[in-house]
Amino acid sequence: MWALLVLIGAAAVSAHLQDLAFDGQKVFRVIPQNDEQVEIISFLASNMQVDFWQPDSATLVRPKMQVDFRVEADKSFEVEDLLKESGVEYRVLIDNLQAALDAQFDSKARIATHSYEKYNNWETIAAWTANIAAQNPDLVSRSVIGKTYEGRPMYLLKMGKSGPNKKAIFMDCGFHAREWISPAFCQWFVKEAVETYGKDSVMTTLLNRLDFYVLPVLNIDGYVYTWTNDRMWRKTRSKNAGSSCIGTDPNRNFNAGWCTIGASKKPCDPTYCGSAPESERETKALADFIREHLSTVKAYLTVHSYSQLLLFPYSYTYKLPLNYEELNSIARAASKELASLYNTKYTYGPGATAIYPAAGGSDDWAYDQGIKYSFTFELRDTGRYGFILPESQIKPTCEETLLAVKYIANYVLEHLY
Ligand code: ARG
Ligand code: ZN
Repeated sequence: MWALLVLIGAAAVSAHLQDLAFDGQKVFRVIPQNDEQVEIISFLASNMQVDFWQPDSATLVRPKMQVDFRVEADKSFEVEDLLKESGVEYRVLIDNLQAALDAQFDSKARIATHSYEKYNNWETIAAWTANIAAQNPDLVSRSVIGKTYEGRPMYLLKMGKSGPNKKAIFMDCGFHAREWISPAFCQWFVKEAVETYGKDSVMTTLLNRLDFYVLPVLNIDGYVYTWTNDRMWRKTRSKNAGSSCIGTDPNRNFNAGWCTIGASKKPCDPTYCGSAPESERETKALADFIREHLSTVKAYLTVHSYSQLLLFPYSYTYKLPLNYEELNSIARAASKELASLYNTKYTYGPGATAIYPAAGGSDDWAYDQGIKYSFTFELRDTGRYGFILPESQIKPTCEETLLAVKYIANYVLEHLY
């Protein structure tokens, strides 16, 4: 009894750790019209501790690009004045980030049990991986592909009816810690698979003939940190030699044009590429697993947020992938499927042209390993809430995304040999 009270107390303390931390912070949107205005934005980045939401770093900003960034409360007036004075057109996307954060937990149930329509903390997700496997032994099994920097086991779920010589689709979520809707989608996908197997004919065929590897959270340490210390954290939590800044961008850490473009060599930057490709235990574990399963893995899907994009290779170069036409038509059809439910509009294309060139991503790396169907999802929204998408949007977001994933999986199944 007392132990229980202490536990509840501890949870309450950690839940309140970040309370009001974001009070008065604002998120601005600007569209710089020329190089001069891009300069002003990079000035803000280096002098005003601005946190870039879209694109991921000030160095990626180009003229005519839509740019969203977060500003500390005590800097917000200064920043706004500067934007006004310099004639950069801007809009305040989020006026008080704390209010938006409080609104993110807008689902009715606020109890510490697992729910597909809530954001679950890591402890809850970890327990869920064990339960879903235990409850569906003929469809789901759990393994550990490695440990994170802080020593947490990285759970992988394998789903599918057992059969000989099955090919597989690999999907991961939770690369970037603050993109909470991403792990929510991986959980949703697993739920849909177990609940609709034997009922939905497409899902039944998919699971009979393919396996799905689902990694619910890649960057677990970062995800934990967004729950306990800083909701806006992005990178891993590893220490960097010779710097007091923490973490590497896991999606700049793969051996695909590593750190040549759209990534930073500075450990304090949000797009820090790490000391070497696969320097992070998490990215190494993922890459090792995929290398070991190259003969079976036919598609790679990685889920991020936000922007509503369906991207495919390449991002480290402007050169087009060999099966560009095929990937483009899959992306077009998958986006159309996705939009059929709630009319959510997605943009699609090769990463380098659809958003910006950025090397070291897992999608490009997987593609160059020979996995010819490689896609990055950037889920809802387009900036109204950005990373702090309200829980009430988990269900519609996951439902529509599921349609796109099922479309891609079915395409892959029909083009196996
Ligand atoms: N916003 C994602 C990121 O910057 C997009 C990833 C697209 N793929 C890539 N290889 N850059 O990580
Ligand atoms: Zn991301």
